[in-house]
Amino acid sequence: MENISIKIDKTLKFISKDEVNAYASDVKKHLSALRNKTGNGSDFLGWMDLPSLINEAILSDIEKTAAAISEKVEIVVVVGIGGSYLGAKAVNDAILNNFEFLKTKHKAPLMIFAGHNICQDYMHELLELLENKKYAVVVISKSGTTTEPAIAFRILKNHLEAKVGKAAAKDLIVAVTDGSRGALKQLATEEGYKTYVIPDNIGGRYSVLTPVGLIPLAVAGFNIRQLVKGAQDMQALCNNEQTSFWDNPAAVYAATRNSLYKKGKKVEIMVNYNNKLHFLAEWWKQLYGESEGKEGMGIFPASVDFSSDLHSMGQYIQEGERMLMETVISVKNTEYRVDVPKVANDLDSLNFLAGKSIDEVNKMAELGTVIAHEDGDVPNIRIEMPRLNEYYLGQIMYFFEIACGISGYILGVNPFDQPGVEAYKKNMFALLEKPGFEEETKKIKQRL
Ligand code: PA5
Repeated sequence: MENISIKIDKTLKFISKDEVNAYASDVKKHLSALRNKTGNGSDFLGWMDLPSLINEAILSDIEKTAAAISEKVEIVVVVGIGGSYLGAKAVNDAILNNFEFLKTKHKAPLMIFAGHNICQDYMHELLELLENKKYAVVVISKSGTTTEPAIAFRILKNHLEAKVGKAAAKDLIVAVTDGSRGALKQLATEEGYKTYVIPDNIGGRYSVLTPVGLIPLAVAGFNIRQLVKGAQDMQALCNNEQTSFWDNPAAVYAATRNSLYKKGKKVEIMVNYNNKLHFLAEWWKQLYGESEGKEGMGIFPASVDFSSDLHSMGQYIQEGERMLMETVISVKNTEYRVDVPKVANDLDSLNFLAGKSIDEVNKMAELGTVIAHEDGDVPNIRIEMPRLNEYYLGQIMYFFEIACGISGYILGVNPFDQPGVEAYKKNMFALLEKPGFEEETKKIKQRL
């Protein structure tokens, strides 16, 4: 079985191989700190060995729960925000047929989301849709107290109970939360919901292979066994003392992006040439942004979808401020082939492409862009996925997780906390006059 692979040759105009290699001993040290739980944030390293701990009993239990729900509904509403929704959304969007939502028949329930924003119109339109649909709810919150999903779940719980009755609603709701603490845990126990635990030692953005990702994906009919298998294989490669620096893609990625950061490349753009990868980049942005953006440091994670965004962001990337690096996720094999046809009048002068597949054109757009960006001083890291399926998504997600741990340690921050996320919450509660926030309310109102 092929693995995802990394190439850094298009960064070598900006950094040398020796500069990357110079990180090898630090990387070894950081990997061993991650493995032995001796570094910053060591209470949150449960994700490191997680793939290999997911056994048949865990998988078949999740599949059983999922099957019991899937057969009853046409939609699964996943309630969660940040790390409690992005992993499932990334896998869902990467694999689902682009036009599944417009089809009339589906092999499995469609996954939609709530509680990932506080948009009133979104909620209204969602309730309007659900009125005539059979649906289940998977509510996910590690803390159990996050405002966005908590509000959404209040509304959806009421809606579902009013629609099908309290007893039937109970069987259509699954909670994924802390094992012992938090409002959601308490509510789930009181209501008798089937409940799955997010381990204490796994933070939201590292939780895709816990029930946070696996339950919604299984309900929506995805192959969670392949997802886990891909992650297990990447764990065996990257989380392994025997793997040399240059054979460890996570080590090479972490070292290369940090070498570039030191040369002033402060923004990393995650690039795809397959629109289905849009949300993998959103997941990656949370993973790296929350892990590294602290203490006045960190590469800013951004993303674009090419070739669409070559027609919008392309100008800036080619000629704007030179603080960019890019990481391209390239999918080697497509699932289908569609050729460019020959036409009689050749008005657009594209007959020279006749008989070539659209993917050949896409791959040349990719190559041409990489070379243009190299010329425009944008170094380019290339990650190749053999195909877009659950197995390789499992590989790439674990690869990004472990590379993020190494990269955060190279930077010198704790990659497993997110103290900055609290600032807006404090102000929002003060402005909403939450009991207990009286002092903050007074202070913030003076600033308005
Ligand atoms: O990475 C994180 O920890 C956060 O982004 C959380 O995932 C997000 O805030 C959701 O938290 P919770 O699952 O506790 O509702």
